[in-house]
Amino acid sequence: MDSILKAISLVVFMLGVSFLPHALTTFDACPFSCKCSSENVQYEVVCPTFIPQSLPSNTHFVQVENIRNKSTINQQDFNSASWASVKELSLSSNTDIEEIEANAFSNLTGLSHLHIHFTYLKNLSPSAFSDLQNLSLLNMSENGGISFTQLKEALSIPNSLQNLQELILVGLNRDNYGESVDSTFFEPLAEKPLRFLDLTRAFFTVLDVESFSNALGDTIQVINMSHSFSVGKVIMPSNHNLFPNLEIFDISFTTIPWMKTSVGVNLALSYFDCYFPFVLANQLKLNAILDSKEFQVRLNGETRISANCERQIRKRLELSNNNFVWLNASFSPNFPTYQEVDISNNGVMYLGANITGHLSELVWVNLSGNKLSHMEQYPEFETLFQKNILLEWMDLSSNGLTNIPRNVFQNNNKLKTLILANNKLNGIFFEIKHLQHLEVLDVSKNLIAFFDNSALSSFEILSSSEVGETSTFFSVQFTENELLCSCETVDFVRWFVTTNVMIKNRDVYTCYLNKEVVLIDTNTLKESKYQCEKTKIIIISVCTSLACIGLLGLTIGLGRYIYRRRRKIERIRRLVNKYRVANPPNKYLLFLSFCSKDDDFVSQYVIDELRHRLQERLPNGENLVCIGDQEFELGKFIIEEIIKCIEASSVMIFVVSKAFCESNYCEYETIVAQLDRKPTVLMFREEVEPKKLPKVLHKHFNQFVRARWIQDDGVYSLKPDWDKVCDSILELAGKSLESESTHKIEQTERDCERSFA
Ligand SMILES: *[C@@H]1O[C@H](CO)[C@@H](O)[C@H](O)[C@H]1NC(C)=O
Ligand SMILES: *[C@@H]1O[C@H](CO)[C@@H](O)[C@H](O)[C@H]1NC(C)=O
Ligand SMILES: *[C@@H]1O[C@H](CO)[C@@H](O)[C@H](O)[C@H]1NC(C)=O
Ligand SMILES: *[C@@H]1O[C@H](CO)[C@@H](O)[C@H](O)[C@H]1NC(C)=O
Ligand SMILES: *[C@@H]1O[C@H](CO)[C@@H](O)[C@H](O)[C@H]1NC(C)=O
Ligand SMILES: *[C@@H]1O[C@H](CO)[C@@H](O)[C@H](O)[C@H]1NC(C)=O
Ligand SMILES: *[C@@H]1O[C@H](CO)[C@@H](O)[C@H](O)[C@H]1NC(C)=O
Ligand SMILES: *[C@@H]1O[C@H](CO)[C@@H](O)[C@H](O)[C@H]1NC(C)=O
Repeated sequence: MDSILKAISLVVFMLGVSFLPHALTTFDACPFSCKCSSENVQYEVVCPTFIPQSLPSNTHFVQVENIRNKSTINQQDFNSASWASVKELSLSSNTDIEEIEANAFSNLTGLSHLHIHFTYLKNLSPSAFSDLQNLSLLNMSENGGISFTQLKEALSIPNSLQNLQELILVGLNRDNYGESVDSTFFEPLAEKPLRFLDLTRAFFTVLDVESFSNALGDTIQVINMSHSFSVGKVIMPSNHNLFPNLEIFDISFTTIPWMKTSVGVNLALSYFDCYFPFVLANQLKLNAILDSKEFQVRLNGETRISANCERQIRKRLELSNNNFVWLNASFSPNFPTYQEVDISNNGVMYLGANITGHLSELVWVNLSGNKLSHMEQYPEFETLFQKNILLEWMDLSSNGLTNIPRNVFQNNNKLKTLILANNKLNGIFFEIKHLQHLEVLDVSKNLIAFFDNSALSSFEILSSSEVGETSTFFSVQFTENELLCSCETVDFVRWFVTTNVMIKNRDVYTCYLNKEVVLIDTNTLKESKYQCEKTKIIIISVCTSLACIGLLGLTIGLGRYIYRRRRKIERIRRLVNKYRVANPPNKYLLFLSFCSKDDDFVSQYVIDELRHRLQERLPNGENLVCIGDQEFELGKFIIEEIIKCIEASSVMIFVVSKAFCESNYCEYETIVAQLDRKPTVLMFREEVEPKKLPKVLHKHFNQFVRARWIQDDGVYSLKPDWDKVCDSILELAGKSLESESTHKIEQTERDCERSFA
């Protein structure tokens, strides 16, 4: 009881501490329509449309979201002693403000952070920032009307902004003519301790890197020029001045037109060496700077050796989206080496071992979105990563990979994450079981039907491997593969149902079982096992000679494709036999349904060819095709006749056209056929969106066999060809025979099970 009371009084005390002493007194009233909040005895004031005249005492942050009814900012706006405590001020206007007058902020003696974003600002007084001695951050993002010339004048006033460390000029000069960013801009900055310069989306003509490095070389740590736009060129320093303290250099997505021509590409790349002035940046971001579609970049041979820099371990190099398709050059040995490299989305077909070999400190690499499947033909693929023994994270997704060399990860014992998603792998046939630190293996979106026993045993080994004291947590992800649950994959299904290996998103996995999509669970396992029995029964019932018994062993061992093809041939054979002994399963083989508007087309291209081809295949096949108006008895109700005709056919063919989709009569036929669960072939006379199909057809669209008429210069041809279409028709008809007989087998099996239970 005591302790509860204590706890309650503690909570009350804390509430009191955080709220009571700070409640606004009438003296410190919050300006009308603004929001005031407090933290650590200091106020934050946020106003919607106007600059408040006076502030609660001890206000350190003021923001005005969109200043209205006012065209200039001047000293009068801050003419109250209460402004002296403000450390951070943020003013925006996307309508009215056009001018900042001289000494506008000089009463804000404590200001350290100033953000001004005025969409229509045109005039910036050269003395706008005078007296701002304590300002460390000046954020002038989105002042597209301000030119570099105006800004450099405001930066040049003596005895102001001596403490400026961060200058943010996002989108500067966007609304003006281009201007050079040269010594007149950089020299005034030389006296300031500037370490962060953001020129994102700025617009300029020539960039003078020489005066840039002379002025800021020693202090600058972050340069962001991403998405900037330059119509001129880059003046490279003559004496190779570098930026020794540069932490981040980002020129991703810049538009520098000359870089995008073949001359520019070559120039830019030859600069990318120890002469490149920003080469010492710990993080170098050069994404999408050479992204021209016209010029694929192919690098062959050696880059030049230069004594300009020494090999150092740097953090990160980004070169994504640059259309480098062939990388078989080598870095100079004295070029920096990187721990993280992003070469994604380049369409790289060849990556030379000289490059990966140089990157011996590599921990993280993104190779996604390339075409490294091209490497599969070269033996050097197997040793590509053998020097990258520190590698922990690797993304090889979206590379069209079909066959990864067995030992490609042999030396990458430290790998923790391996992403192989969105390739064309049909299994894991490369060694992974030695990757004791592996935590994530992602093979989603591939062509994996099942994992073989060797892959499964690797998973088990990884999931139980312990490294020192700590056991790692291995997980595998293989969503979006067309998994197969069948006799051939029983081991895999059993593993899935029983294993302790962590499977990411385990409950979403489905597989194809008898062509249906089902969740993988114990029932699925039972059904897959049962498939094996069924396969045996079918084969035994078919096999009569000793040779077939050998075939039996073979068939069970072979993959599903062979099995499927065999089954198809078997179905057709059985159907043909039925016809041979003049015992067809139905009166008609198929019912051909089409719209009267397609009469001419069907008569000319479909009926005769279809009859002829089927008669060739089926002995004694006279009444193979039932066609509306020829077969219907005169005088009877037409609907009744259709139903009869459908019931008497093994397979349905719909000739689908736009007219077909619009006629109710045909819709009726599709419904009848569906009710009767007839196997169905859709033959498209013309392109029709699946959505436009009659509902029942649309719903089962993917289950149907489909063929398409293609018109080329007035000549119609069928895709797939008639032979394949006829094969499918015969197979479907044969399958309906089979489902009758397997149904019988199933029934007896169940009866047996029941009598044993
Ligand atoms: C701006 O001025 C107009 C008239 O001059 C007035 O109607 C409007 O309310 C004012 N808006 C603000 C936000 O003060
Ligand atoms: C603001 O600055 C002006 C000019 O320096 C001065 O006259 C005025 O007294 C200052 N206001 C306050 C509240 O300090
Ligand atoms: C502003 O900087 C000066 C030194 O330049 C310092 O004495 C003063 O305390 C600073 N004022 C504030 C409010 O930080
Ligand atoms: C600069 O201002 C913009 C717009 O208000 C803001 O999004 C951005 O975060 C600011 N940058 C810095 C470094 O404060
Ligand atoms: C540079 O600016 C862009 C756009 O704001 C941003 O996405 C990027 O992260 C910035 N780079 C650095 C290194 O801050
Ligand atoms: C890659 O470069 C090396 C060394 O320059 C050369 O021997 C090899 O033939 C090149 N490979 C291809 C596929 O061009
Ligand atoms: C790797 O690169 C791809 C393609 O550019 C990108 O989608 C993905 O987010 C990258 N991965 C990481 C972790 O940066
Ligand atoms: C590049 O690789 C080849 C072998 O493929 C080797 O002989 C050559 O020395 C390497 N060049 C460099 C600069 O590493």
